[in-house]
Amino acid sequence: MISVKMQEAVNAQINAEMWSAYLYLAMSMDASNKGYKGIAHWFRKQYDEEMEHAFKFIHYLESQQARVELKAIDKFPTSWKSPLDMFEETLKHEKVVTGLIHDLYALATKEKDYATTIFLQWYVTEQVEEEENAQELIDAMKCVGDDKAAFFMFDKSLSKR
Ligand code: FEO
Repeated sequence: MISVKMQEAVNAQINAEMWSAYLYLAMSMDASNKGYKGIAHWFRKQYDEEMEHAFKFIHYLESQQARVELKAIDKFPTSWKSPLDMFEETLKHEKVVTGLIHDLYALATKEKDYATTIFLQWYVTEQVEEEENAQELIDAMKCVGDDKAAFFMFDKSLSKR
């Protein structure tokens, strides 16, 4: 069993993961509308990943006989001025999520909830990868600059994710 406080904190994180999923789905739709097929695909995959993150938490609460409470999804942005803008917002958002995961880990540690600290280790590692991926996309986009041919190749490369 986990504490009620931990249960509430995990439920809040499920909401945060689902908000992340909506954010990336919105980026995928915006990219698709603008003809950036590879970027749209990359963010669609990112949506899938965020839903997987949410479901991992859901299954964890279920395995602990804890209650899952789905909450409303707050409003999210729906358009961005450029692909670079999308990737920069992705990195900024992932840094926020990293902080939330660390807060959860700190709570589990404080409560001597060893099962939850071990469970959360996967997310701590995952966040390192999430931030690294977003930073790589920012760096790549900055290299591309205004070069249309380079952008075409870059967009195409993202369809392989
Ligand atoms: Fe679920 Fe991108 O953090």
